Amino acid sequence: MDESQILAGRAAIVTGGGRGIGRGHCLHLARAGAAVIVNDVDGDEAAKAVAEITSQGGRALASTADVGSRKGCEEIVSQCVAAFGRIDALVANAGIMRDRSFLKMSDEEFTDVWRVHVMGTFWCAQAAALRMREQGTGGSLVLTTSAAHMGNFGQTNYAAAKGAIASMTYTLALELAAYGIRVNAISPAGTTRMSATFRGPDGKVAEMPFIDPTQNGVMVVYLCSDEAGYITGQVFGTGADRLMLLSQPKYAFGMVKPGGWSLADLRQHFKNQLGNRLEPLGIQKAPYPFYNGVKPRS
Ligand SMILES: NC(=O)c1ccc[n+]([C@@H]2O[C@H](COP(=O)([O-])OP(=O)(O)OC[C@H]3O[C@@H](n4cnc5c(N)ncnc54)[C@H](O)[C@@H]3O)[C@@H](O)[C@H]2O)c1
Repeated sequence: MDESQILAGRAAIVTGGGRGIGRGHCLHLARAGAAVIVNDVDGDEAAKAVAEITSQGGRALASTADVGSRKGCEEIVSQCVAAFGRIDALVANAGIMRDRSFLKMSDEEFTDVWRVHVMGTFWCAQAAALRMREQGTGGSLVLTTSAAHMGNFGQTNYAAAKGAIASMTYTLALELAAYGIRVNAISPAGTTRMSATFRGPDGKVAEMPFIDPTQNGVMVVYLCSDEAGYITGQVFGTGADRLMLLSQPKYAFGMVKPGGWSLADLRQHFKNQLGNRLEPLGIQKAPYPFYNGVKPRS
């Protein structure tokens, strides 16, 4: 054990914890003293992560339940409580990608991604929070979003899912504070099986420098600790040497007119008041590119 034991006596679940970023969360949580349920549909990878933790003197058990069903999510929470007597933290990390340009995307590609990310987060978070409320001890939920939720070519399904998870973070934080349950999200970075498929704005697989995927686990430990007892409803960019606080969606500026805006008013004022300040688009936050009109490519 080489980290301070700030989670000694605590029990945590990490979904998708067998490889990549989730594996790193498991290793760091265990080193900080937590007993960990390493959940992953890939049982071999989950077992390897558990063996790694126990060889370092930590406590961990594997779960192969699928977060793509309510039953699977409830099973993971039940296993944690049966094995460790409690649950203090849930890290909803499991994810898949099915990239395709919007006009070609199938229902299956959309719903597969939606089910694992959004429904999996909803079901696991609900099962964990119900148990935390019953315990009366509070707890920490750490959800996983992505900068892709700002909009990214070829990722209608994934961007929508990650946007939904960011919105869930804000809402759950408001609802669950009454039970001492904090809800935050990370937008991680790491070189993983998933990142090997990331594409740039040109649609080609992006060349990226190696980023240690396990590093995101440090912030996860901190968010699950009592030192973060005042932090909820926040989204943090983690990994790749950075630690960022995401500003939350809000109206940037606007106009008010008693009695409301007529079409004639809009035609008179919109272009000079709001139309010249349109927001950047997408993950790259490129300056608004369409002031000359959105026109079919000739
Ligand atoms: N890699 C990045 O740079 C990056 C960036 C932003 C967000 N993320 C997010 O971080 C999380 C982890 O991504 P990663 O890069 O480590 O991916 P990964 O593919 O390396 O690992 C994801 C793990 O989730 C497991 N999994 C998938 N579906 C599951 C299910 N239904 N039930 C249980 N386990 C399941 C997989 O078996 C796999 O081991 C994802 O939510 C991803 O969207 C990753």
